[in-house]
Order: sequence, then structure tokens, then C-alpha cells
Amino acid sequence: MSDATGFRGTILIVDDQDSNVRILERMLRKSGYDRLVGTTDPRDVVSLFLEHRPDLVLLDLHMPHVDGFGVLERLRPHVPEHSYLPILVLTADISAEAKQRALSMGAKDFLGKPFDAIEVLLRIRNLLEARFLYLELQQQNDLLEDKVRQRTSDLEEAQIEILERLALAAEFRDDATQEHTQRVGAISARLARRMGLPGQFVELIRRAAPLHDLGKIAVPDNILLKLGRLTSEEINAIRTHTSVGARILSGSRHPLMQLAEQIASTHHEHWDGRGYAAGICGEDIPIAARIVAVADVFDALTHARPYKSAWPVDEAVAEIMRQRGRQFDPQVVDAFVSLLQEDGTIGTGTPQA
Ligand SMILES: [Fe+2]
Repeated sequence: MSDATGFRGTILIVDDQDSNVRILERMLRKSGYDRLVGTTDPRDVVSLFLEHRPDLVLLDLHMPHVDGFGVLERLRPHVPEHSYLPILVLTADISAEAKQRALSMGAKDFLGKPFDAIEVLLRIRNLLEARFLYLELQQQNDLLEDKVRQRTSDLEEAQIEILERLALAAEFRDDATQEHTQRVGAISARLARRMGLPGQFVELIRRAAPLHDLGKIAVPDNILLKLGRLTSEEINAIRTHTSVGARILSGSRHPLMQLAEQIASTHHEHWDGRGYAAGICGEDIPIAARIVAVADVFDALTHARPYKSAWPVDEAVAEIMRQRGRQFDPQVVDAFVSLLQEDGTIGTGTPQA
């Protein structure tokens, strides 16, 4: 009459006749059940239930103040939806109507009074057995869910790390600190949040923006790292990094990769249409790309590259503002300026002198 650990559970007895409560208590105690709570006042059932969290309830039907049906109704909101709480109705009313009503209201079993002690004990044992099996199953389910959650988060971490390393591969040759891509992600996320874009988008752009220059992988060293003036062929070769990056990232069904593809493809488009692709301008340029454009240029200007030194922050900001409505979306520039006003600087890195 117990679960595998010897635990017999807590039983709540509800009967307006004190003698009935005492008979049941004595009988149960003799059978080894020692966690018993009894009451003759059905109005106390909810508070006793919440205090003792019984594994089984023995319930009389005909009682003053609140009858057994009323008790079943009052207990219902306190019993979790997918839990198994056995309620055994013990009553002198053995009419089919009472039985059907009690069972339909959540009672798991029904016995008439006067009851047969052995039968009551056997029914209690069966109901508790089902209760403990249910609890065990629920515990196993919780454990499994925890494991699945852990695995999923491990997988997500691995995916994020792979994306970060992919972004790093793109910047490997022309960014000594290799932090540019992550800073562009952080600045883009702050800009997106400042512009009131949804939280999910903010997190996506944080992860997708670092991949904006992935296509630089295909640009030869002698062009990418050239210190002198670039020929028009070399400029064209560098310009292919948008389409190459988009091609590498294309065809994914994941929103993150789809956004990364969009950014890689259009982050050099200008608000006034004078960007890489002729004709695309204004709001035809995806908002993510308009945001990354500002973040990318600001971070590139304020950090040194093999072919250029770092600009002071105020000069870089002045340049961004000069390009408001030309290269950049005015709304993004405004968000950028308001962020600067808020904290004096922007980004996670300190601009290099
Ligand atoms: Fe780029």
C-alpha cells in the first residue's frame, strides 16, 4: 500500500459525521497510513487541501453548508489540469444520479455506505497506486524535458558560435583585432532597439549583422589588403562581396540566415539610390541593411585598418550626419545620434587612435 519508497501518501477525509471520520482514520492507521487529515466541516476543505496537498481525498456527499458536489467544484481550480488527484466518494446516497454526477465532476471512484472496510482499503490502495505511477511518470517527463532543453540550448550555443566563427573568417585578413563584426552586431542591435523594432528582430540582427561582409572571403588578398589606390577592376572585385556573401547564405529556411543573406546583399545600398545596385533606394532597402550600413561605416571609420588610420569619433559622427538622407536612412541616423547623446559614445570597443 505504498509507492516504491514506502511513502503511503497523505489522505484527506471529509465527512460531517465525526464518528465516520474517526472510523476511517482508525481503519487507515491500522493499515499503515499515518498521514491523515480529517474534517467535519466541508468549508475547510480548500484550505486543508492547499496546506496538506493530499494524495487522495475521501469525500462524503450529503453535508451541511457545502455538499460533496460543492466540494468537488471548489477543489477543481486548485487541482492542476494535467495532474491526477484521486477523489473517492463515500456516501449513503447510492442513487445512480448521485454516482454519475460525482464521477462526472471529477471523483475517481464511488462507494456506498455502510462500506466494506476491506473493499474501501483495496480501492484506496488502487487509487494511490495510480497516483504514484502518475507522479513517477510526471517526474520522468520533467527530467526528459530538462534534458531536451539542455540539448537544445547546447545546440543553439554551437550554432551561434559557428556563426561568430564564420563572421570572423570573413574579417580575418583585414581586421587585426577581429572584433569589427561583433561590434557591428552590437551597434545594430542597439539601433534596432532604439528604433522600436521587436525584441526578436533585435536579437536576430545582433547575430546576423556580423556576417555582412562574409563575401570578402572571395576577394583576393592583393586587392583586399592593397594599400594604394584601387583600379576600377579592383573596386568591382571588392563590390562582388555583397552578392558572394548573399549566395553563401542563400537558401536557408532559418530566419537568422535569411536576415543575414538580406544584410549581406544590400548593406552597401544608399538611401538616395547611389549604392552598389542601381535603382534600389529608400525603404526598398531592407531595414536591417539600412541599420547595418550605419553601424558598419561608423565602426570602420573609428578603427584602424591596414590601409587607413582610425578617425576620431566626432569626425566619424559628423560624416554619418553628413550622409543623412544620402547614404543613410535619416531615421537610422537619428536613432544613432540619440544613442550617442545618451551615452556619449557607441559600440563595445574603444576607438583606436
Ligand atoms: Fe561590406
